[in-house]
Amino acid sequence: MPYQNILVTGGAGFIGSNVAIALKSRRPDGRVTVLDSLRRRGSELNLPRLREAGVIFQHGDIRNPEDLAPPREPYDLVVECSAEPSALAGYDGDVRFVVNTNLAGTINCLELARQCKADLLFLSTSRVYPVARLNELPTVEQPTRFALVDGSGVPGASAAGVAEEFPLDGYRTLYGATKLASELVIAEYRHMFGLRAVVNRCGVVAGPWQMGKVDQGVFTLWVLAHHFRRALKYIGFGGTGKQVRDLLHVADLIDLLELQLARMAELDGRVFNVGGGLETSLSLQETTSLCRELVGNDLEIGADETTREGDVRVYVTDNRRVTEAVGWRPRRSPREIISDIHSWITKNEAAVRQALGT
Ligand SMILES: NC(=O)c1ccc[n+]([C@@H]2O[C@H](COP(=O)([O-])OP(=O)(O)OC[C@H]3O[C@@H](n4cnc5c(N)ncnc54)[C@H](O)[C@@H]3O)[C@@H](O)[C@H]2O)c1
Repeated sequence: MPYQNILVTGGAGFIGSNVAIALKSRRPDGRVTVLDSLRRRGSELNLPRLREAGVIFQHGDIRNPEDLAPPREPYDLVVECSAEPSALAGYDGDVRFVVNTNLAGTINCLELARQCKADLLFLSTSRVYPVARLNELPTVEQPTRFALVDGSGVPGASAAGVAEEFPLDGYRTLYGATKLASELVIAEYRHMFGLRAVVNRCGVVAGPWQMGKVDQGVFTLWVLAHHFRRALKYIGFGGTGKQVRDLLHVADLIDLLELQLARMAELDGRVFNVGGGLETSLSLQETTSLCRELVGNDLEIGADETTREGDVRVYVTDNRRVTEAVGWRPRRSPREIISDIHSWITKNEAAVRQALGT
């Protein structure tokens, strides 16, 4: 197995914890360390799982360079999974945290990788694509969803989703902007210092151990609300719940990361859109139907027609580039994802209720 001394930043979060545990399970003799500030509510629930898996936990903040001092045994891989991942971050006027974590923090991680001569896997986001450009794409209204169509004339846009050639000019939320800025700095580190890196622009990732909230983790939020019978609303785009996201099971993402690690020399410098794709996408209405069926509770869903700042009508990942590069495609269906989230909630009900205040 390539890489035997790995740091996962944000490793107590949803993706980071699942990635760290998977990397460790495939490297029983290797060392996997996670660093996390535990800022995200619920991340502390992941600490016992990490410990049981033999992953080392280090409390630290990527905004502080001293928390990222190179260890005596230098890391050979850094997987950057820490972030303020909310598309609404900064809209309350507090822009410093999102910029300092998502951009300055990335630079601190890059410095660590440079000093250790480690490779980097960077989790970027589909949010690098500008909001207005995405919302200008022509869509058709179907009985349960909006759908993208062919023939928009916009590079990288088709009925199959959004590819890497999609234009980058325009505003994209501070979350997306700080991630795109990090991608640019990573390109400079590759050029200046020979750092090897792969960037994955992920659409919505979902699955067990995500602490879902209204501005991040919508599929978990939906399952949680159905399970605990909490109020939900279709917000924006007419309030009918026809907005669409593709969703990727975190286990499918992990399969991809391992494929990339095995071929780092060849993939170094590549940027990929990574997501569930059209086949693994859901509108909110469709998510409600699946939740009714799988969770068993029938909620009345409210409507709020006002579209939130930065919100996108349809986002579906066009995975063709990554499929061509490594032969990967998502295997888990929306039904499996919703069902896995529900089993996780059922098995950990008391802890989830306490951590998320549901
Ligand atoms: N989950 C998704 O749908 C999704 C989609 C696209 C991209 N991503 C990216 O994947 C990565 C992981 O996302 P996630 O869904 O696991 O989010 P998450 O919020 O569950 O995890 C992020 C973790 O980072 C920690 N953190 C935040 N600020 C920190 C700081 N300054 N120093 C140290 N730790 C800090 C949090 O405590 C949390 O545990 C992020 O970079 C995110 O932008 C996620």
